[in-house]
Amino acid sequence: MNLKSYLDHHIFHAISEVADKRGLETYVIGGYVRDLILHRPSKDIDVVTVGSGIELAQEVAKKFGPKVKVNVFKSYGTAMIRIRENEVEFVGARKESYQRHSRNPIVEDGTLEDDQKRRDFTINALALSLNKETFGELVDPFGGLEDMEDQRIITPLEPGITFSDDPLRMMRAIRFATQLNFDIEEHTLQAIADNASRIEIVSGERIMDEMNKIILSPKPSVGFKLLESTGLLALIFPELQEMKGREVRNGIGHKDNFFHTLAVLDNICAHTDNLWLRWSAILHDIGKPKTKRFHPKFGWTFHAHNHVGSKMVPAIFKHLKLPLNDKMKYVQKMVFLHMRPIILSEEIVTDSAVRRLLFDAGDDVDELMTLCEADITSKNPEKVTKYLKNFTIVREKLKELEERDAIRNFQPPVSGELIMECFQLKPSKEIGMIKVAIKDAILDGEIRNNFEEAFEFMKKKGIELGLTFTEPKEHTN
Ligand code: CTP
Repeated sequence: MNLKSYLDHHIFHAISEVADKRGLETYVIGGYVRDLILHRPSKDIDVVTVGSGIELAQEVAKKFGPKVKVNVFKSYGTAMIRIRENEVEFVGARKESYQRHSRNPIVEDGTLEDDQKRRDFTINALALSLNKETFGELVDPFGGLEDMEDQRIITPLEPGITFSDDPLRMMRAIRFATQLNFDIEEHTLQAIADNASRIEIVSGERIMDEMNKIILSPKPSVGFKLLESTGLLALIFPELQEMKGREVRNGIGHKDNFFHTLAVLDNICAHTDNLWLRWSAILHDIGKPKTKRFHPKFGWTFHAHNHVGSKMVPAIFKHLKLPLNDKMKYVQKMVFLHMRPIILSEEIVTDSAVRRLLFDAGDDVDELMTLCEADITSKNPEKVTKYLKNFTIVREKLKELEERDAIRNFQPPVSGELIMECFQLKPSKEIGMIKVAIKDAILDGEIRNNFEEAFEFMKKKGIELGLTFTEPKEHTN
């Protein structure tokens, strides 16, 4: 098979010329070839040569002029050049396992086939020749092309060997199955289950990279179900594993919160690419196992699971090596607020409740609504229609009130300094009380969100608290 037409990028012709001149057998290999054939966009190009990758990179870089720099990673025997938006990595064919940026430098030279067989999956072991005579010819000793057609993830060697070379590959198998909607071949899948515990030697950061790629796939539930069934989930994300199962008491069962969570996650993926909103979907009910109670009269309850769940977020982010920054705060807020719109839509949707929601969610209110809509996984079509209709009303009200009252990212219309001046106060709890009363009056619709009405209200409130009002020097905020 010749895939010459796929290699029209001028980079490949430049590499080809240099390789021929130096008499080096050279190929483009791995993920780039896989993605070419699958018509997926890909920027990182891996080039393997039977010889020195570093020297080849240096020669190729010269062809592109002095501006193109070569980054040499001597201990890995690799070199990288950047040509426009493409990163091209050069490596000499090696006998040992191929692990990008692995801690152990790998030095033993090998043939192309030695190199291919130490790669993770057959679909990632395809090579296209870059030498002039064979330019574009596919070298596929392990049947990767057929596996691609059959949509199969399978290791080139006995899977136990491939996975012990780098246990992260177990996560990669599941990640590729999820991204590409491929099946993992039976023995390969069994080997993941058998070797799951070896994931413990892999760094949290690498694991999380793969998990985030699963989450950013079109249907992440595929990956999470595989992580669960192979035993990996229990090891890397026990809190989510805990959600699995359905208990029945006195003939009353509750839903399986693991599968519910996955349904919510898949739902939300149709509406957002935001990784952190997707994480909010994963964690929205994470407090349920801890708050689960059985009440003889009311059945199963999960009181305050939103509160408990949002408190669990920092520890989960920490052990999963997710960022402990504003992204985490956002997820905490989403988990905490995820029940508000639904409670709201069950009752008559009052202006005051909508204003409070807008106040608490701020700029994230639209994404919160998206999460709540995704949370409706009921199989009862009447219920679904009713909720969605009520959410439409909530969204309309949000828009209407936002335009009128500017509650989103609320700024107090009367400052603490002005309150102090008007009532001759030193910093004290009365200032806070007056501020809260003003905010509540606005959210309840008693007064409008402007300086004049808030000032009058402050005056009244202060006097009620027994304070003496004096006209301030300047009557503006
Ligand atoms: N590889 C491997 N084992 C690993 C990581 C990578 O065998 N643990 C090999 C595979 O041949 C892979 C290539 O190195 O195709 C490049 O790896 P990488 O850039 O990490 O992944 P890609 O397969 O290109 O996929 P993606 O860009 O989606 O991460």
